Amino acid sequence: MNERLFQDCIDAFTIDRAALAHIAAAFRRDIDLGLDDPGASSLRLLKSYADLPDGDETGEFLALDFGGTNVRAVRIALLGNGRYETRAKAAKPLRAPGAYDLTAADACAEALFDFLARLIGEVAAPGQSCLLGHTFSFPSVQSNLYDARLVSWTKEFATPGVEGEIVNDLLTCALRRCGLSGIRPVAVINDTVATLLAAAYQTPDTRIGSICGTGHNTAYLEPHCGRALPRMILNLESGGFDRLAPNRWDTRLDAQSARPGQQRLEKMVAGRYLGALFSHALTDALELSAPPRCTTEDLSAILADNSPRLEATAALLRRSAPSLSAEAVVWSKALAETIAVRAARLTAATYAGILWHLDDAHVAPQQIAVDGTLYEKLPLYKEALRQALCEILGPEADRARVALVKDGSALGAAVAAAVAARA
Ligand code: GLC
Repeated sequence: MNERLFQDCIDAFTIDRAALAHIAAAFRRDIDLGLDDPGASSLRLLKSYADLPDGDETGEFLALDFGGTNVRAVRIALLGNGRYETRAKAAKPLRAPGAYDLTAADACAEALFDFLARLIGEVAAPGQSCLLGHTFSFPSVQSNLYDARLVSWTKEFATPGVEGEIVNDLLTCALRRCGLSGIRPVAVINDTVATLLAAAYQTPDTRIGSICGTGHNTAYLEPHCGRALPRMILNLESGGFDRLAPNRWDTRLDAQSARPGQQRLEKMVAGRYLGALFSHALTDALELSAPPRCTTEDLSAILADNSPRLEATAALLRRSAPSLSAEAVVWSKALAETIAVRAARLTAATYAGILWHLDDAHVAPQQIAVDGTLYEKLPLYKEALRQALCEILGPEADRARVALVKDGSALGAAVAAAVAARA
């Protein structure tokens, strides 16, 4: 084992306080630029046509959460005063290895949307007429709350026939084909917007919603969207932020991804990619002939392994490198930690950039709502994110409470449907 190689890898994934502050400032600049001239920014700042809810929205709604590994359909009753009740739910994976894969280039839009419609059918009461909110977690351009048109797939989705289409039109047709024409999709929102709506429904001082899961992205409430436009939530598509200094493993991963050059931040911080990044770095650190194929779940298991002799980590890594020494196991764990911590630190820098954009030097007391498996479950992640916010913002960081808001996608979709019904 060559310590030097490991140390080089670890250094290349380490981001110090000065670099963090620089990234936060660059992120803020990209928001400012994008508001004036969308072409000048690497952020998309997509309009959601949604404002924050009052918290007094009521009624029963259906919610569809489509955007990650699993699709969920939920029947939710909004009870007002930030309260709600989940009345039915169903979830299914979009890929079942060996059986089907609705996200692949050889799948088709009709089959995908029929699958979604049937899932909605499982939670709707028989013959029910109901409004549906749809959390669709891909970059979409809208001119109102309904008409989201998919710009391009992200997160390695490749189903043909959806890009460029109005996704709720595809869903409405599928619902009809499945005999569910009483169900009317009325609102489409991104999952970041949903997380923000769900959190704000319950905790009014929320202005930022973010996802740290399979993908990564953030939305915030922009008070000045331009002339003649009301304040509204903007979906930054912050995974596309590219004022960064990728290292050689970032570059390699990007080159081998479905869309090289796109989603550069996401490929450095999101669950879809962290395992692969670790595998690429390990290949060079251990001088292996082929990447060890670690998943993000493996990375998480390694981080959670606090046993004195790192047995779980050793067993996992020796699947690909049978003669790995005990010392190399320790180094590998340190590398895994550095990659996870970098993801959290980069994400924190983007939050700081948004806070600076909104509040300048004096951060207003507020909640930042975050959902996603990395934030919820990846060891070290939460703590590293908080630590980085403190490094960038100093004592002002105490005013920004980062909180896990679980399952915001479904509640947020129901809230959006309620808001659409009121309009
Ligand atoms: C990807 C999508 C974005 C979504 C995020 C989290 O970055 O492009 O729309 O919010 O994943 O699911």
